Amino acid sequence: MEDLSDYRKSYEKSQLLENNIPEDPMNLFHRWFYETEEQGNIEEVNAMTVSTIGLDGFPKSRVVLLKKFNEEGFIFYTNYNSEKGKAINNNPNVCLSFFWHSMERQVIIKGIAEKANPVISDNYFESRPDGSKLGAIVSPQSQVIESREFLDKKLKELENEFQSKPIPRPDYWGGFLVRPVEVEFWQGRPNRLHDRIRYHLQDDYFWKIERLAP
Ligand SMILES: Cc1cc2nc3c(=O)[nH]c(=O)nc-3n(C[C@H](O)[C@H](O)[C@H](O)COP(=O)(O)O)c2cc1C
Repeated sequence: MEDLSDYRKSYEKSQLLENNIPEDPMNLFHRWFYETEEQGNIEEVNAMTVSTIGLDGFPKSRVVLLKKFNEEGFIFYTNYNSEKGKAINNNPNVCLSFFWHSMERQVIIKGIAEKANPVISDNYFESRPDGSKLGAIVSPQSQVIESREFLDKKLKELENEFQSKPIPRPDYWGGFLVRPVEVEFWQGRPNRLHDRIRYHLQDDYFWKIERLAP
């Protein structure tokens, strides 16, 4: 049995106080995101965990890349027929989370996912390198495949087919927009007395702000 009870770290870098936060959580997310990008020395600051409730009734979490955020919410791209795509189709309630460890910060977002506007997905797909475009077409994401060769062979075939043709976005691949209903910001503090500020959406437009015990 490995005993990890001595793994211990004190969090001392920052604080999160009510007198220094905006009324809208997207503004605080924006502030934290760019502070992390500038000071966090983190390679993929936009990597986040998406949790869904699956068709089998189990929650499942996996990492995806956040590709856009604005006042509407958060957008990531994926295969709509993947396990997460089917889960969202059945139950759009999802959770996104970020752990920016060098900043001693965590953000947890509960929200409702919907397919992004197709124009947004088209524009993003178009901006990707050809190899990534073909990869999205080649991979029946989350399905069982017989071998690695299956992917390599299909990629070769598509490279030939699309040698001098534009590569269209497949309709089973695109963005999900997650509209937040609750956003919690966690800032590590000494003695395990961390700061937790939760924004909860009321009546579709007003954000109620509360402090939670750590
Ligand atoms: C750093 C990182 C970034 C990833 N980005 C994405 C992404 O943007 N979209 C995506 O569909 N999968 C991404 N993945 C793969 C997912 O974690 C996951 O394996 C895949 O989406 C299939 O998940 P599912 O079977 O639960 O639907 C990423 C994985 C890692 C580790």
